[in-house]
Amino acid sequence: MGGQPRTHLSLRATYVVADIMDWLAGLPAHSLHAVVTDPPYGLIEYNRKDHDKLKSGRGGVWRIPPAYDGAKRRPLPRFTVLSPDEIAELDSFFSDLGDALLRVLVPGSHLFIASNPLLSTLTFHALQRSGFEKRGELIRLVQTLRGGDRPKGAEDEFPEVCMMARSCWEPWGIFRKPFPGTAAQNLRRWGTGGLRRITNDEPFKDVIVCSPTRGREREIAPHPSLKPQRFMRQVVRAALPLGVGIIYDPFAGSGSTLAAAAAVGYLAIGTDRDESYHALARAAFGPLSALKVGDL
Ligand SMILES: C[S@@+](CC[C@H](N)C(=O)[O-])C[C@H]1O[C@@H](n2cnc3c(N)ncnc32)[C@H](O)[C@@H]1O
Repeated sequence: MGGQPRTHLSLRATYVVADIMDWLAGLPAHSLHAVVTDPPYGLIEYNRKDHDKLKSGRGGVWRIPPAYDGAKRRPLPRFTVLSPDEIAELDSFFSDLGDALLRVLVPGSHLFIASNPLLSTLTFHALQRSGFEKRGELIRLVQTLRGGDRPKGAEDEFPEVCMMARSCWEPWGIFRKPFPGTAAQNLRRWGTGGLRRITNDEPFKDVIVCSPTRGREREIAPHPSLKPQRFMRQVVRAALPLGVGIIYDPFAGSGSTLAAAAAVGYLAIGTDRDESYHALARAAFGPLSALKVGDL
C-alpha cells in the first residue's frame, strides 16, 4: 500500500521507507496478523539531532562507554536523561501507535514489543490505554553493559557503590487485540488469538536466554540496536499460532524481524523512515535469514 519507496527483499518480505504513522494511516483495517518490534525507546535517540550525534560519535542521549580492556564498546542510549516533556511525548507516541496498530490488525493479533526496565511501565500502560489487552511479558535474559557503574568522578571514593543495578534482562510486552467469541472461533476465522507452541508437547515460554548480538551478525547488519536472530526467530515464530498471516515490524531497522520471519517461513512487512537502514536491510536480509541457528 502507498507510494513510498520499497524493496521486495524476497517473494515473502517487503521493506517500506516510511514514517510509521503515515504508512499505517493508508492501510485498510484488518490487514496484518502480528507485530514484532523494537521501537525507538526514549524516541529522541532516533530523532535527527541525537541520531546525528551518534553517527558522528559525539554522544547526546547516546552514551559512548569508555573503552574496556582495550576493547571499544558500542554506544548505548541513556534513558535516564529524558525530561518530563520527553516522557509526556513518549506516552502520547505509544498511545497513538497503539491506536493505529489496533485498527490495522485482525482480532486476536499479538503484539510483541521490546522495552527496557526504565521505560516499560510507561509505554506498556499507553498501549493498554489504546485498547490492547496485556497478555504477559517475555523476559530476555541478557547480560548488558547498562548500570553497575560507580558514582561518576568519585569512583575511588566510593568503590563499594554502584548507582544502578547492572541490567541482566530485557522486558518485551506481550499484548493482544481483543476479539469477540471464543478462541477457537477466532483461530478458525482469522488464524490468530493464541501463540504457536515450540512443539506439540512444549508451549511457548516467557523467558528466553539470549546473549547480546555479536560477531558475524553485527558485521552483516551494523545497526546500533540490532536484535539477534536466535531470539527474533523464536518470538516471530510464536506470534502466528497457525503459521499463517503477515508479521509486521513498524521499526524495521536492519530488517532483523523480516529476516527472522523468512527463516521460519512467514510473510513479513517492515517500515522504517531512515533510508540508510533501508539500504542496510537490502544487503543484510539474505545473509541474516540464511544464518544457521548453530552459527548464532
Ligand atoms: C530500535 S531501532 C530497531 C532496530 C532493529 N531491532 C534491528 O534489529 O535492526 C528503531 C528503528 O525505528 C526507526 N524509527 C524511529 N522513528 C520512526 C518512525 N516514526 N517511523 C518509522 N521508523 C522509525 C529508526 O530509524 C530505527 O531504525
